[in-house]
Amino acid sequence: MQQPSDIASTSLIVVKLDVPDTVKSFDCGDEDLNDFILHESPLYRKEKLAVTYVLKEADDIANEHITAFFSLSNDRISISDFDNKTKYNRFSRRFNNHKRLKSYPAAKIGRLAVHVSAKGMNVGSMLLDFIKRYFTADNKTGCRFITVDAYSAAIPFYLRNGFVPLNDDDIDEPTRLLYFDLNDLDED
Ligand SMILES: CC(C)(COP(=O)(O)OP(=O)(O)OC[C@H]1O[C@@H](n2cnc3c(N)ncnc32)[C@H](O)[C@@H]1OP(=O)(O)O)[C@@H](O)C(=O)NCCC(=O)NCCS
Repeated sequence: MQQPSDIASTSLIVVKLDVPDTVKSFDCGDEDLNDFILHESPLYRKEKLAVTYVLKEADDIANEHITAFFSLSNDRISISDFDNKTKYNRFSRRFNNHKRLKSYPAAKIGRLAVHVSAKGMNVGSMLLDFIKRYFTADNKTGCRFITVDAYSAAIPFYLRNGFVPLNDDDIDEPTRLLYFDLNDLDED
């Protein structure tokens, strides 16, 4: 698989895990995310609730030393996600009047984590670029936004990568709903 990003310029590749695939070891410093990739993600794949992709060396067939992973599911941004109608109307202004809907198709980053040894080296940002290009290069079903329930510690990372908060009411919550408009890429 691979390609829409400059990850291709390194020896690392992005691979989608099959249902029975396992990851032998991983540590991003967060136990819940470690537990997801090491134990839970096969069940999500089996039940078709989320797909998981790993960043690794091409010859690491057994997924023994993955550098990072992310999981994706279908999502939507709907009128009920906004804490008031004015915000929704402001959000909807990006659409032609005739195309204003009660909800808009999106893909959710369920989880994203980089191994502790690779943090701060732009890997997470490259993966976000990969995901954005993945959905614009081959937009099979219509997907306008990328969403994420961002951990508060990771919010600066997402903001730096063009994501914006949907609401203000979750500002003090442990996670915050952020989105990226894939049409912003057309202006690159
Ligand atoms: C958040 C995470 C995915 C970022 O990946 P990364 O490869 O380290 O990030 P990048 O190198 O692309 O970007 C780093 C930038 O993001 C921001 N950033 C990343 N983590 C941050 C944190 N914990 N607190 C504040 N800023 C952070 C900084 O602005 C940093 O820029 P700087 O290098 O100028 O300081 C990674 O640190 C990680 O796996 N963290 C633990 C798991 C996690 O929180 N996942 C997110 C779940 S929503």
